[in-house]
Amino acid sequence: MSVRTLRGQTVVVIGGSSGVGFAVAEGALAEGARVVIGSSNQARIDAAARRLGDGASGAKVDVRDEASVAAFFAALERFDHLVFTAGDQAANVPAPLSELDIGAADEGLKVRFWGALLAIKHAQPHLSARGSITLTDGLLAHMPRKGVPLATAFMGAMEHLVRGLALDLAPLRVNSVCPGPMLTERLAPWPVEVIRQMTERQPLPRAADPAEVAQAYLYLMRGSYTTGQVLIVDGGRMLI
Ligand SMILES: NC(=O)c1ccc[n+]([C@@H]2O[C@H](COP(=O)([O-])OP(=O)(O)OC[C@H]3O[C@@H](n4cnc5c(N)ncnc54)[C@H](OP(=O)(O)O)[C@@H]3O)[C@@H](O)[C@H]2O)c1
Repeated sequence: MSVRTLRGQTVVVIGGSSGVGFAVAEGALAEGARVVIGSSNQARIDAAARRLGDGASGAKVDVRDEASVAAFFAALERFDHLVFTAGDQAANVPAPLSELDIGAADEGLKVRFWGALLAIKHAQPHLSARGSITLTDGLLAHMPRKGVPLATAFMGAMEHLVRGLALDLAPLRVNSVCPGPMLTERLAPWPVEVIRQMTERQPLPRAADPAEVAQAYLYLMRGSYTTGQVLIVDGGRMLI
């Protein structure tokens, strides 16, 4: 397997219909890979696959539903890399601990944590043994914020999952990207002033273009000697 480029390889991006997942799909295609994107909304998948053009296809998958995940992967041939960027805001909802509802808290894990695990479970039989899995966590794993302790716990769990799976699934490589603020569709409704205030003290005082963060995923797919790692791409935010 070439370490220089993804040419001729197949990359599956769950969450590829928008945001950083879409940027990863674009980057992989530019290197000559074939790309399959998955997300829960057929219209968004179709629109994204059209924008990506030749070499891209897509199918619907709801990672909250194991049958849907199983059907998505059963329809695929062998492939080389799984990238998981699917996410929702369920983990970030602030709630005082005194009002904690464990059932509702579990919702916070559904897409980003259990969804990632289900995707790995059903992808594994189709993944090339020399391929890779790249997950996505968030800076709250390293920089807790008042009011959202569960999100910090969930993101930390994702990073430890990566370390465990890197041993368990070797020689398949397992890594994660931990992004700082990115100007994806998710941040689109945020006022410019809020993003400016959030990022102005960073060494790189702006939010990332998703294509900049996508470079980390592309490296982790190509990086044939890298496993069990979390690559933080945050404009230096961790330093402030
Ligand atoms: N943007 C940031 O500043 C930032 C910073 C740190 C970490 N992150 C994390 O990075 C990840 C990607 O963020 P993003 O900004 O690129 O988000 P985004 O633009 O909202 O993309 C999220 C993707 O997940 C898919 N998705 C949501 N629920 C799904 C489900 N149940 N099953 C399958 N796919 C599902 C969405 O498509 P459908 O709606 O079609 O399902 C979409 O393709 C998220 O986990 C996010 O929390 C983001």
